[in-house]
Amino acid sequence: MKKRIAILTAGGDCPGINAVIRAVAKTAMLDYGLEVIGFLDGYEGLIRKRWRKLEYEDVSGIITVGGTILGTSNKADPFRYATKDSDGSLKIEDVSDLAIKNFESLKAICLVVIGGDGSLKIADRLCKMGIPVVGVPKTIDNDVACTDRTFGFDSACATITEAIDKIHTTAQSHHRVMVVEVMGRYVGWLALYSGVAGGGDVILIPEIPFDFEIVARKLVERSRKGRRFSIVVVAEGAKPKGGDVVVRKIVKESTDPIRLGGIGGVIADKVEQMTKLETRVTVLGHLQRGGSPTSFDRVLATRFGSRAARLAAEGQSGVMVALKCQDIVTVPISDAIAQLKSVPIENDLIRSALSVGTSFGVDL
Ligand code: F6P
Repeated sequence: MKKRIAILTAGGDCPGINAVIRAVAKTAMLDYGLEVIGFLDGYEGLIRKRWRKLEYEDVSGIITVGGTILGTSNKADPFRYATKDSDGSLKIEDVSDLAIKNFESLKAICLVVIGGDGSLKIADRLCKMGIPVVGVPKTIDNDVACTDRTFGFDSACATITEAIDKIHTTAQSHHRVMVVEVMGRYVGWLALYSGVAGGGDVILIPEIPFDFEIVARKLVERSRKGRRFSIVVVAEGAKPKGGDVVVRKIVKESTDPIRLGGIGGVIADKVEQMTKLETRVTVLGHLQRGGSPTSFDRVLATRFGSRAARLAAEGQSGVMVALKCQDIVTVPISDAIAQLKSVPIENDLIRSALSVGTSFGVDL
């Protein structure tokens, strides 16, 4: 039997996953003569033993395609697997032994996990139980530690920036304050980068709890100076000083149980009341995760995927590929999951944004 490696894509989808699958599979097939199988729907496929063999044709022509050809899930966690009891009640059990058994039965030499923080934490635990694992950092949030970038982030920033450009039209024509809520549960990379790129007047991120008074003051000041519109870019995980994040719902069976959303509306209502300036809110939602990857993400995904296949073929395990300066390096998965990579307040981009008149809703 030919030696084989397995691929699994878990957590939220994002542009560039297919480009990684393509690079892993083509490198494995062309450089090492390996067979490649893909588990379907993330860890669900590993638990339920649902997988398919990937042929060269399956991974050809997918570098431009958004989403993942293997399907994904942020519900299936082998250590906390949720099923319904006969009476309909939720049952959560540890099925990690079954996942290990299923993997071993396929006789694959490595599992390449393409995932964000939550999925890589699961990969690390499985690795410690005996599955050889190589990780690839994926998420539009850019919050995985030990890598300068996760793939997907650049594409999401491009989409958000385009949306902000379009929102500018209404803001200018109607002389309104437009609040744009973007993703980013615990970190503000998306809001910061797209807010700066889109010329946001106020950027609110989880790392800098804001003051409503200061936000309102900035908007009134702009209006007094004759700038008859403003753009506020807010991360879904931003919160006022002394206040809490706005939680939309809790999904117990999910690997990411807390669903945020709604801070944009809260801010719009409050600043309209405080400033008497007409205000609207736009929540970009899953638009940010969709569509074709940017050229940056296609290149990063290809470099990540290709290196991951080489590591897998050469018998490495417990490592994640990462971007450091311009190079692709490897880091222990356990280091990458030790904490999230948040935006440091002493950050050149924050300094530059302040210098061009952007407010972060506090006196910095
Ligand atoms: O982690 C990626 C992400 O897009 C977050 O920014 C967001 O909070 C979350 O996933 C949304 O998850 P879901 O698609 O499950 O609602």
